[in-house]
Amino acid sequence: MAEQVDLLSAECWAAGAVGIEEREDGAGCMLLVYAQAARAQEVEQAARESLGARESSGEEGRVEPPEPVESGDWSERWKEGLAAVVVSPRLVVRPSFVEITPEPGRLELVIDPKQAFGTGGHASTLLALEWVDVLADELPASSRVLDIGTGTGVLALAALRLGAGEAVAFDIDPIAVCEAREWAELNELAERLRLFAGPLDALAAADFDLVVANLLRRELLPLAADVAGRLTARGSLVLSGLLAEEQGEIEAAFGGVGLRCAGARFAEDGGEQWVSLCMRRS
Ligand SMILES: C[S@@+](CC[C@H](N)C(=O)[O-])C[C@H]1O[C@@H](n2cnc3c(N)ncnc32)[C@H](O)[C@@H]1O
Repeated sequence: MAEQVDLLSAECWAAGAVGIEEREDGAGCMLLVYAQAARAQEVEQAARESLGARESSGEEGRVEPPEPVESGDWSERWKEGLAAVVVSPRLVVRPSFVEITPEPGRLELVIDPKQAFGTGGHASTLLALEWVDVLADELPASSRVLDIGTGTGVLALAALRLGAGEAVAFDIDPIAVCEAREWAELNELAERLRLFAGPLDALAAADFDLVVANLLRRELLPLAADVAGRLTARGSLVLSGLLAEEQGEIEAAFGGVGLRCAGARFAEDGGEQWVSLCMRRS
């Protein structure tokens, strides 16, 4: 379903949407898509075509006719329900429009929801952030982090905020990389973050102390050997974006390239049970 939602959103943005709010419950996912009145028909049509194209795969969905909203309201309405994400007592991720009371010793990242995935609100991101928070204590100031499928950059930025030396982060989606750069600058971490748009094999560097990858199973499995080869002897690999029922297959695939599972974290989101694994060399 996540893939269908991503595609539907992308097609609405391309047709002229100016804001998209995602609301999930156990039964499914609802997208509230905002557009200027002049573009509403085009956006509605794009949504209908996107859903129609996927009907053959058995995925269901429907598009309600456009409704007018109060002038100026749409630009604020999508912010409702968005809150700061408390990763641990020392790390919070929040949108710029959500103010929180500063607490001594607490670190924060400011990331606004735009088109890239990764504000901390989804279980797969939060679980990975929790691992980064735990593993950061093992990272020396000279440590190097690799973030595969960086989205907003949230995982690399969290590692840097928690003391990692430098990070390389990339995504096959150039829009995500632009947004990650924006958040790196806003959070004053850009000097220690190298970003690029492209695939893993465009990167020559190896010997990362921490590698993080919040990717779907089908995106991750083809990369297993290459990902494992990027780790230092004592490095840690954090995998997320996986459903609990996929854990056995993922452990077997990474076991085949010399890694073992050192721990698993679980969380429920959108009616699914998600798992995030910490892998180390066998
Ligand atoms: C679930 S999002 C994770 C974003 C962020 N790292 C987080 O944890 O919230 C997955 C991201 O991986 C990217 N992606 C998918 N397959 C990829 C691949 N083979 N190499 C690099 N990036 C990939 C997608 O474009 C998307 O931005």
